[in-house]
Amino acid sequence: MKQKVLRNASELENELISVGCKKFLLVCGGFYECLDVRKQIEKFPFCCVKFNHFQPNPQYSSVVEGVQVYRESGCDAILAIGGGSTIDVAKCIKLFANMDAGQNFLQQTVIPNDIPLLVMPTTAGTGSEATRYAVIYQNGKKQSLTHDSIIPSVVVLEPDVLKSLSDYQRKTTLLDALCHGIESWWSVNSTKESRRYSEQAIKDILLYKNAYLDNSEDGNAGMLWAAHIAGKAINIAQTTAGHAMCYKLTSLYGLSHGHAAALCVDVLWQYMVEHIDGCIDHRGKGYLKQIMDRIALAFGCTNVNDASHLFTELLTSLNMKAPEIRKSDIPELAASVNPERLRNHPLDLPMPVIRMLYYKMLDRNGMVEDED
Ligand SMILES: [Fe+2]
Repeated sequence: MKQKVLRNASELENELISVGCKKFLLVCGGFYECLDVRKQIEKFPFCCVKFNHFQPNPQYSSVVEGVQVYRESGCDAILAIGGGSTIDVAKCIKLFANMDAGQNFLQQTVIPNDIPLLVMPTTAGTGSEATRYAVIYQNGKKQSLTHDSIIPSVVVLEPDVLKSLSDYQRKTTLLDALCHGIESWWSVNSTKESRRYSEQAIKDILLYKNAYLDNSEDGNAGMLWAAHIAGKAINIAQTTAGHAMCYKLTSLYGLSHGHAAALCVDVLWQYMVEHIDGCIDHRGKGYLKQIMDRIALAFGCTNVNDASHLFTELLTSLNMKAPEIRKSDIPELAASVNPERLRNHPLDLPMPVIRMLYYKMLDRNGMVEDED
């Protein structure tokens, strides 16, 4: 099914009419109450059942509750307005909506349904609105769901909703989208189509960076689009070692996802430049070299070294520092890396290399020593 992309919220009402909506489930975070778009949605001629009973990094139990609300209230469409977690909750509600509620949804076979899923991202970073992935947590364990049927049918890229993002949110979401562009481009799963998205996303992110950081309307619109395109790239090619290494940095040190991913891509990129011989992409070392050159060009650099340094300088200019990692944390960080996600990476990264890369990150802070 082809995804429809709208560039502002005023067209949303017609979309709901066109899918025959009578009552929709509005999945939204607390942030929704502060958005101007709320006034438009309240005037819609359909019943709206609001569901906001979930937290960032949403729990399976919250999704179960959402499915129950969807069913019992007789909704016939889902509209998600929020960041990545909100969109993931909405995707899971759609995915589970026609399953047996008497059993664990995660253990059942997916039967695709045609419930319309419309989403309006309120950050420009995750690209979740473009992907077939959703992440929720059950009993402290991350559950990654992948199914084509959860790619939203309609996406509304309304720049106005980005107006009240904080400076840190702007920086971290920008970096998340940029890492999606970079990682999807060098991913072993890349295709001609995904590489086209990666290239366009990186160029647009760099083009709109300053205007977005200045909170201008053009900047917000440009970054929303760029992050969406980066989402389309990871929908095909997935992310690689940068994302595989970043999750524990978030849970251990409270760094935002995009901040953590960028710190990992930063150390990885330089390592890749120096160790291209470890290429495991089936298309070969020559192919990977060419891709690294193309990424450098998208950054406006004529060689890969300059591009990797430019990325480091970008982090410095945004004041995105590495956390105070203790040497004793390194084994835990390295053990957290998902080996399946590492397989998307074009270079072999055995465990000693992963540990060394975390050490490199720590080195940026002048080697914080263990307490006695
Ligand atoms: Fe990400």
